[in-house]
Amino acid sequence: MFILCFVPHILFEASCTGCRCCASGTDCITTNGVVECLDPCDTYTVLNDTWRSTENTDNSILHCDQDISRSVWYRFYLGQTNAQIPEKYVAEQRCGTSASLWINGNHPVQLNEIVTRNLFDSWWGYSYRSSYFASIAIQIKLCSGYYVYKLQQPFGCYMAYCAGAGKPLHPH
Ligand SMILES: *[C@@H]1O[C@H](CO)[C@@H](O)[C@H](O)[C@H]1NC(C)=O
Repeated sequence: MFILCFVPHILFEASCTGCRCCASGTDCITTNGVVECLDPCDTYTVLNDTWRSTENTDNSILHCDQDISRSVWYRFYLGQTNAQIPEKYVAEQRCGTSASLWINGNHPVQLNEIVTRNLFDSWWGYSYRSSYFASIAIQIKLCSGYYVYKLQQPFGCYMAYCAGAGKPLHPH
């Protein structure tokens, strides 16, 4: 039997093998080679590199996020503290890279809500509203007290995701 599923994550990305229609708030996640519908609030990979900080202006070592996987979700930390992708323009040559990556929209406010946001970069100090390269989309979920992200590999090097201080969460 063929079942059509019109759920947002399938519109965002073709469904993956092993998952049919994931329930709201869950996604196809690969763990140990097994693809299942899981809650990314419980199953995520930690990104805790201190060089990702928006305060980091040391560009003597440039990083590139070429190892980002589409089949896992990520949670950011700076030290022991929850961190998040900045919602505003971040100058180039920060976050331990040339073209710092940030989003142009707000994080979700409803608990367990997943939103899609466009990713922007600061390549050559490009503007606040546009980006040197066409922007690509990532997903963000609000968990109880932190966010998790479904990221995409950036277009090239050197580009990496920034991590900024978390703002207070307002889950409803
Ligand atoms: C990042 O997390 C790993 C695993 O928990 C830990 O061993 C490492 O010290 C952390 N690094 C930083 C910079 O906090």
